[in-house]
Amino acid sequence: MAKILIANWKSNPRDIKSAVKLAKAIDGKNVVIAPPFPFLEAIHKVIKKSALGAQNVFWADGPYTGEISADDLKALKVKYVIVGHSERRKNLKETDRMINLKVKEVIKSGLKVVLCVGEPLNIRKRGIKSAKNFVVKQLTKDLIGVGKKSGALLLVAYEPVWSISTEKGSKPDTPEDAVLMIEFIRGWLKKRGLKSAKVIYGGSVNKGNAESFLHKKGIEGALIGGASLRPLEFKKIKSSII
Ligand code: PGA
Repeated sequence: MAKILIANWKSNPRDIKSAVKLAKAIDGKNVVIAPPFPFLEAIHKVIKKSALGAQNVFWADGPYTGEISADDLKALKVKYVIVGHSERRKNLKETDRMINLKVKEVIKSGLKVVLCVGEPLNIRKRGIKSAKNFVVKQLTKDLIGVGKKSGALLLVAYEPVWSISTEKGSKPDTPEDAVLMIEFIRGWLKKRGLKSAKVIYGGSVNKGNAESFLHKKGIEGALIGGASLRPLEFKKIKSSII
């Protein structure tokens, strides 16, 4: 099955002209572009093969000043929504309960949810077993009420917090450990009846290491931050999966 690359631009670039230029440059099959909200509409107009993604969503539709609902995103032609990114868990104090509400709202709208899970460094230092326990706790809480039929709308991104390039002293996971965790997550999802869910890796994927992650059978794609802002590098990553 085709692997997927999700470009998480975070708060970049600064202006719409650069966003459109970047989107055109990385446009491609099996690529999801998740720009900041203000660029969604313009990017939708210029991409030919990519799907549009959003980096966040609110869990309800209604009078919630400043929030954006899943149906708003759907109207903007968004197909994928990232939920539970570690930056939001940490900096915005998003709880598993909030994340669970968002996951359910996205699924209810018929969009695909990219649920980010992953352990912080202090947990990983205790060993892989602690990391697995941590991730299972996140999955258990984040997927409350998500039934078997929703499997096809679910992607889980295993992103160990310490591997994200913006974290101080970050380094990518080893592809071997990433596969171990991903297979573990897949097994857990299967037991829950969510066997059509995809599991991908994220955290400092770049042109030098992309192949080592994406050539692993168990890794169904990557969530890419920094390198998705560099068109030549992103193209190289893309070519490593074809
Ligand atoms: P990175 O970001 O590729 O820059 O490490 C990944 C992410 O935050 O999703």
